[in-house]
Order: sequence, then C-alpha cells, then structure tokens
Amino acid sequence: MNTQEFHIRPDFPDFLDLPWHLPLREWRSRCPRLVEVQRGPSRHEVLFVEYAGRIYAIKELPDRRAAEKEYENLRALIDKRLPTVEPVGHALIRHVSSTEPVSVLITLFLEYSLPYRSLFIQRGMERYWERLWDALACLLVRLHLAGFYWGDCSLSNVLFKRDAGELCAHVVDVETSEIHEKLSDGQREMDLSIMEENIYGALKDMTAEFGMTLPRPAEDIVGIIRDRYLALWKEINREVVISKSDHYKIHERIEALNKMGFSIDEVQLVESGESGKLKMRTLVTDQSYHRHHLHNLTGIVANDNESRQMLNEIRTLRAAMCAEKNRSIPLSAAAFRWLNEVFYPCIKKLKARTEESRTMADLYCQVLEHKWYLSEKAGRDVGMDKAIADYNAKIRS
Ligand SMILES: Nc1ncnc2c1ncn2[C@@H]1O[C@H](COP(=O)(O)OP(=O)(O)O)[C@@H](O)[C@H]1O
Ligand SMILES: [Mg+2]
Repeated sequence: MNTQEFHIRPDFPDFLDLPWHLPLREWRSRCPRLVEVQRGPSRHEVLFVEYAGRIYAIKELPDRRAAEKEYENLRALIDKRLPTVEPVGHALIRHVSSTEPVSVLITLFLEYSLPYRSLFIQRGMERYWERLWDALACLLVRLHLAGFYWGDCSLSNVLFKRDAGELCAHVVDVETSEIHEKLSDGQREMDLSIMEENIYGALKDMTAEFGMTLPRPAEDIVGIIRDRYLALWKEINREVVISKSDHYKIHERIEALNKMGFSIDEVQLVESGESGKLKMRTLVTDQSYHRHHLHNLTGIVANDNESRQMLNEIRTLRAAMCAEKNRSIPLSAAAFRWLNEVFYPCIKKLKARTEESRTMADLYCQVLEHKWYLSEKAGRDVGMDKAIADYNAKIRS
C-alpha cells in the first residue's frame, strides 16, 4: 500500500480497494468501480466511482494540502447550511512512480444536478436560462452573507438543481475560498469581477464550440447577474428608520425578508440620533426559512422553492378551513389536513415511486406544475385528480 493518510467520515465506504498506487488518469481500464456521469469541465483530474448505489467524485490535486483545505471549506459551507456538495474525505497519496505526494478530495455526487452546459445544450431547457442568472446572483449573496469569499465563481464550479420550476445553484469547487467573519466591500467586488470574467469566457467558449446563440450577448448576461446580486444585497442589508411606536414595522420587515426565503437571526435597534426614531438592521442567516417552516409543520424535507409552493397550498387550505368554520384555524391544523387529504393521497396514486421524502416532495411539485400547465391550457382549474391521471399517462408512455 502506497497511501499515506486517509481521512474519511463515518458512514461512508473506506475506498481502500481503489487503485491508489496509480494517478487518477491511469484508472480508466483498471478500476471496475468507475462510472460515467454528466459533468462539467475541470482543471484537475476528476473521476466518479460507485459503492452500493451511491456515486462519489474523486479529485486529485497536485498540492499536498489542497484537498484538506477544500474539504474544510466544504464542511464550513455545510455547517452554515449553504448549498454545496457533501465532503466525504480527503487523502494524501504517494504514487509508485513519483516522490511527491498528491492530495485527493472525495465528495458525494450531487444527485439530480445539472452542469451548466446541459442546461444550454439540451433542448427544452430554454425556460431555465433566465433563472440561471438569478440562481447565480442568489448563490453569491448567500455565500457573502456567510462571510465566504469564493475566489473562483464560474459556471463550471456550480451545479444546478431544479427546484419546483426554479433553479438552485450549488457550489462545487472551493479550493481558492476563504472564510471570514465578515467580507469587506473590496472582497465582494473582487468575487463579482472574477464571476464576470469567468462567466463571460465560458459563455463565449460554449457558443464557439457548439455554434449556438445565447438569449442575450454574453456581456449583458454578466451585467444582469451583477445587477441582480447588487439589488438583492442592498435589499437584505437595507437599514430602516422607524418611530419607537411603530413596532409593526419590525414585523413587516421580517415578513418581507422571510417571503424572500431568508431567516432572520437578530433584529438590531439603535438610536438614530433623531428623537423618537430608531435605526433597524436585520441580520440574515440563510435562505432556508421556507424549508424549516415546512419541515416543522409536516416533517417533509424539500428544497426552498418546493417548500414555498407547499406552504402556499397549506395557507390556501387554511383560508378555506377558516371560511368553512368561521373562526381562525392554526396553520398546523391545516398542515395536518393537507398531508392526509392532499399530499399522501397524491403520492399514493402516482405511478412513479420514490423511497425518500425528499424525492416525494419533488414528485409532488412536478404534479403541481403539471396541474398548472393543464389548467392554463384549459383556461380553468383542472383539479388534482385529472393532473395525476395525465401525469401517470405521461410516465407510462
Ligand atoms: N460531488 C460532485 N457531484 C457532482 N458533480 C461533481 C462533484 N464534484 C465534481 N463534480 C463535477 O466535476 C467537475 C469538476 O469538478 P471541480 O471540483 O470543479 O474540479 P476542478 O478543481 O478541477 O475544476 C464539476 O464541474 C462538476 O461537474
Ligand atoms: Mg472547477
């Protein structure tokens, strides 16, 4: 055995049967665990292996400490509940043919994710293009709020997951990243410039390689991402001056930020210098407000936008229950009824089967999307039963 150090988190395979004595580029004909997946371009050698139905990404880095640093960065992102790939372990390896060790990073393959090229090249994905700019701007805001300087924001360092008709961007490559208590405006600007340069280059390369036309010129696209980033950052960090008697304004501001999906960690109120007035600042933690709220109410684990959709359904049901009973009804009572009369019956009737509640939520939201599509075509609400029947027919065909 030529390996030197292995650090693997519990509940994962030990990976010791892989041909570590060879560099990754020589594994192709020698490792039966290798699998091909959709992936983006990379600077380093990256391969994918399968153990018991789960796929892992293995990346080889020439610097002996690089994998450990990237592993620590990914763990910090996970701890802050930011969207990224799950770190599984890192290792220091000495190959038979070389004296200098290389480092290796192992991450869990992000299921159902799409590299950007497949969003542009596959047909039928055009409706996601505009959402892609939003997803990127939102990801940068979330990272920066958490004090995370990325240093290499690019399209190939992001994976996209469909999330109830929207896209959620996940960070995948954080070798160059740094974690700070708080980022300076200069650090944020640096990240934005790197983003612009990298994304402009990637869009130009892709159009040249595939002879395709972008929905807008590449320079406009990077400008849009920057503008959306700046607008979101400004809104979240806005300081509001309120009168001491205007308590409701605090709740209004919290609700507005919650509606955007952000959870509030703390509200700061300080004297504004003007008599009777206070300056209010809200400290935003992450963008999982809807996810937590839905999870607390129903136990369902879902993505942000899926959660938002299901919460809307629960609120609509509550409004109908209030009207029916002519009194106010707690949201938890509506959630209970929604689970038993809407969500579970729908899942039971679906032909496509899933084991995890996560994909159950995904399936349910797909049916909802299908219902809207059918209703739009019909010019009226077609109802869940019709949507389920039509969805099942689509699966069968
Ligand atoms: N855990 C993962 N799940 C899914 N895809 C991954 C994962 N890790 C890497 N990839 C794919 O491999 C590509 C290269 O990985 P990356 O970390 O960016 O390598 P490099 O540092 O060489 O650029 C990514 O663009 C992504 O498509
Ligand atoms: Mg990369």
